[in-house]
Amino acid sequence: MPIRAAAPAELEAVYRMGFDTWAEGRTLDAYLAACRAAPKYTGGVWWVDEDADGRLTSSLLAHEIPLPSGAPAVGLGSIATPPELRGRGHGSRLIAEVIRLREASGTDVFFLFSDIAPAFYERFGFVVLGPCAKKPASILMARAEPKRLVGLLADKRFKSPDYF
Ligand SMILES: CC(C)(COP(=O)(O)OP(=O)(O)OC[C@H]1O[C@@H](n2cnc3c(N)ncnc32)[C@H](O)[C@@H]1OP(=O)(O)O)[C@@H](O)C(=O)NCCC(=O)NCCS
Repeated sequence: MPIRAAAPAELEAVYRMGFDTWAEGRTLDAYLAACRAAPKYTGGVWWVDEDADGRLTSSLLAHEIPLPSGAPAVGLGSIATPPELRGRGHGSRLIAEVIRLREASGTDVFFLFSDIAPAFYERFGFVVLGPCAKKPASILMARAEPKRLVGLLADKRFKSPDYF
């Protein structure tokens, strides 16, 4: 199935995909309430993939991060696959598809904050920029053509993304 934006009624299922990882000791109800209220979760587009039976297989959040030049860039986040479906390529497919669709419409710079080993995202062309200022356990990564990235990082107007 082609990937698509999540419908509002699907957001609870989307949030549940990361409950085991991001609950931080909260009950499911408290975790879901926090997700519904989180500005970072309401400020972007949730992309989802589904299988032939209509079961959601993976989700991720995409924020618009305009560059100093005005060119578009996308900040990815909260990639999650339901625990019982992990390790089957769903997360990888969704990441690759979001990048492919955005590249086709002219976006050539992508960011994300990795809470896991960066090697997973290096497979998609992301490189490590450094620890997140707000949350040093997260690693800021970027994906762009190398010269483009060097130019962007040298631009004094460029501010490190902080959408998470
Ligand atoms: C990370 C995650 C989205 C991957 O989704 P998935 O559908 O299982 O992904 P795929 O099947 O395409 O890829 C699986 C790969 O992810 C890697 N991976 C999963 N969790 C990982 C972790 N914590 N650290 C490093 N790599 C990890 C696996 O080792 C596997 O590698 P392999 O292909 O060499 O076997 C999924 O494990 C998940 O939902 N985790 C909980 C939420 C989370 O931590 N998200 C990432 C936030 S930065």
